[in-house]
Amino acid sequence: MGRHRVGSVADFSDESLTALEVGGQELVLVRHQGAWYAVPDRCTHARYPLHDGSLDDGAIVCCHHGARFDLETGRPTMPAIKPLARYPVEVEGDALYVTLP
Ligand code: FES
Repeated sequence: MGRHRVGSVADFSDESLTALEVGGQELVLVRHQGAWYAVPDRCTHARYPLHDGSLDDGAIVCCHHGARFDLETGRPTMPAIKPLARYPVEVEGDALYVTLP
């Protein structure tokens, strides 16, 4: 829980999906069209990691069974049913911070 510095803007290229361990939790940090998203590194379908998935049209696509999670809403497509949690990402100067619940 709490607010954690996770790196610098320059560390992450656009359209990247990066696994991070933050505050003892495994996350995926996404940079997409200049925006930042942080989500748990666990698909809500069968709990496989999401960091080995891909980005497509504003969604993370799980490579295991193909569920798509909308980056803005966390809403999934089948076979996942449960939405993906999303954590706030803030940029201060060149520093990136993620706040965990
Ligand atoms: S584990 Fe992600 S779609 Fe099944």
